[in-house]
Amino acid sequence: MQVRACAFVNIIIAPSLLASDPARFGAGAERAGRSGADWLHLDIMDGHFVPNISFGPQVVKAIRPLTKLFFDVHLMCSKPAILVEPLAKAGADEMIIHVELGEQIPSLIQKIKSLGKKVGLALNPPTKIAAMEPYLEQIDLLLVMTVNPGFGGQEFIREGLAKIQQAATWRRDKALSYRISVDGGINDETGADCARAGADTFGAGTSLFGAIDMKSAVTQLRRRVSVAAPH
Ligand code: DX5
Ligand code: ZN
Repeated sequence: MQVRACAFVNIIIAPSLLASDPARFGAGAERAGRSGADWLHLDIMDGHFVPNISFGPQVVKAIRPLTKLFFDVHLMCSKPAILVEPLAKAGADEMIIHVELGEQIPSLIQKIKSLGKKVGLALNPPTKIAAMEPYLEQIDLLLVMTVNPGFGGQEFIREGLAKIQQAATWRRDKALSYRISVDGGINDETGADCARAGADTFGAGTSLFGAIDMKSAVTQLRRRVSVAAPH
């Protein structure tokens, strides 16, 4: 009898707080904490890198005591250097910066690591995946944006799937271990498509916070992506 080795895929579900009631971010963080999710995804927007402003280190600090969830902080900011230290102090566990920042990237990666935090690198839909290759050895997470960042509730952009596949191929060929994350328009269907392509970490705002029963929504998303993930 042939026994097939079955690679264990460790799925992470990360509800995005942006989709919770902005008047009650604390309650939203607590709700995510009770939902069975693994991480809380926190979107920091500066009104310059993206055409919207969300919240900053003060809000992150205020909600930090309300949940034990890992804080996955996504910086959509033109000058993240000014925010990295305040966010680390506020309780960020990981900080994701954007590859579109170009020459700022090496020092940002170094700074985030020196603060003892995990580092992620994200790319926007118009950016070629090749832009990520120089940094693969230095990152803990590679984030493929599946919407143009700035707002929740947008439609999933399918062109991200080929980027996920490339990220997974690099990871295998170079024997690296970064997580492959997706963010934007993720629901059961699009999440399963991303999992099939090689994603293991799922940021999802509207589909999880918009559910009447968030716990069931998290369980269902986890089930769908686990079944779809390559074994
Ligand atoms: C988009 C943000 C996302 C957003 C996802 O700019 O980075 O994290 O909150 O929201 P949904 O899941 O509603 O697309
Ligand atoms: Zn995000």
